[in-house]
Amino acid sequence: METTTHSLPAHSLDQIRPSVRRDLLVVAAVTIVTFFVSSLLELTERVLAFTRPFEAYQIDELPVTFLAMVLALAWFSWRRSRQAVEQINLRLRAQQALMAREAQFRLLFEETLSGSVLADADGTIRLCNPAAIGLLGLDDAEAPMKLGDFYADTALWRQHCAQLERGERIDAPTLELRRADGSTARVVAKLGMMKGVDGQPEVHLYMTDITELTRTQRELADALAENRLLSQRYVALQEEERRHLARELHDELGQSLNAIKVDAVTIREQSEGLPDIRRGAQAIVDVSTQVYQVVRSLTRRLRPVALDELGLTSAVQFLVEEWQRRHKDVRCSFQADDDLEGLAETVNITVYRLVQECLTNIAKHAQAHSVSIAIEPRSGAKAAPKLAVGVADVGCGFDPGAPRQGLGLVGLRERVEALGGRFEVSSAPGRGLRVAAVIPLEAAR
Ligand SMILES: Nc1ncnc2c1ncn2[C@@H]1O[C@H](COP(=O)(O)OP(=O)(O)OP(=O)(O)O)[C@@H](O)[C@H]1O
Ligand SMILES: [Mg+2]
Repeated sequence: METTTHSLPAHSLDQIRPSVRRDLLVVAAVTIVTFFVSSLLELTERVLAFTRPFEAYQIDELPVTFLAMVLALAWFSWRRSRQAVEQINLRLRAQQALMAREAQFRLLFEETLSGSVLADADGTIRLCNPAAIGLLGLDDAEAPMKLGDFYADTALWRQHCAQLERGERIDAPTLELRRADGSTARVVAKLGMMKGVDGQPEVHLYMTDITELTRTQRELADALAENRLLSQRYVALQEEERRHLARELHDELGQSLNAIKVDAVTIREQSEGLPDIRRGAQAIVDVSTQVYQVVRSLTRRLRPVALDELGLTSAVQFLVEEWQRRHKDVRCSFQADDDLEGLAETVNITVYRLVQECLTNIAKHAQAHSVSIAIEPRSGAKAAPKLAVGVADVGCGFDPGAPRQGLGLVGLRERVEALGGRFEVSSAPGRGLRVAAVIPLEAAR
């Protein structure tokens, strides 16, 4: 199995220069030898003697003509050789640029954090980058291995082979690999079959390690589930405590106030002719009536008795009517299915608290002129039954990106998500606010 590194071949004009020098020496040697042979044999005189009879044909001009031709040919070959050198330089530069680019790509291939593997069509690994070596837990000196050996699921490898042979590209969002040391790695992988430089098909595998990410995701999901359970428990305890407080307030304080009021009425009735005592008794009656009203409203806020007695729809209807009585200038519409009986206690109280908090918020922040509240069950052939709750106002709204201090909406989100539901707040300045929650009914039973 190969990993990387090629050295650049050293081509240069320096290699050509020695042979040019040798050729020039040959030319000089031939010239000198020719001169000596010609002097020895008196060649020019012989040629002149030979050509004299043909003077009429100007044959004796041939030596000068040949000399001119030789010079012209020398110039011609010098020009050609210069062109050849330019061509060679051009090619060398192109080759060097190509090699520099190849080195760049090689560096990218080697330094990338994603693993790349090149294998033969039968899966024999030929080339791996360092990231793939680390990911698969390979040793550099390892004997050629098959890609299929690293698949945790060998049937999946066979299936991938069949797909690759059909020319399909494979995108695997999670692929489980068995590393050389036996441990498991999870990767996001892409596989494809292509024609290699030798014309043979080869398998390309590109992968990114998500083992850590998957583990963190799983831990996060577990922590979230635990948190939900805790929130659920906390909300249940809070409601239990409120119910207890409401009962105490009603039974103890309510009864005592009633007794005070009855006694004060008796004193008032028996204080004929004693105006001071009568006035005092009347004051006690008034105050105890007032405090009783406060205790009643406090009791109702702590524990919506109507919820137990009348069911969800009527309890919310009652809540909305009470709110409308106090905010007559706001148009308020309420829509709910009559058939909302038999829901889990936690769902009922969550929906009630949601509408209660939203109405309080609208009174506090919205300057709204209309409000609509809807509660509707949703069920489909495949989907589990759910309850959708929406409270929308046409008021000043707010910028969801701006920091906020309150706990009301956060608490609602916790309550809804503790039941496995979805909670959304959408708003924009000047465009009102809409709170929407979808609560699964099965999980909450
Ligand atoms: N219906 C609404 N219209 C405009 N702004 C709203 C509306 N409901 C909530 N807000 C904005 O969102 C913020 C957060 O609301 P939230 O109910 O969480 O807190 P709060 O009402 O300020 O305080 P808390 O509910 O804890 O007493 C509010 O302070 C307010 O600025
Ligand atoms: Mg609030």
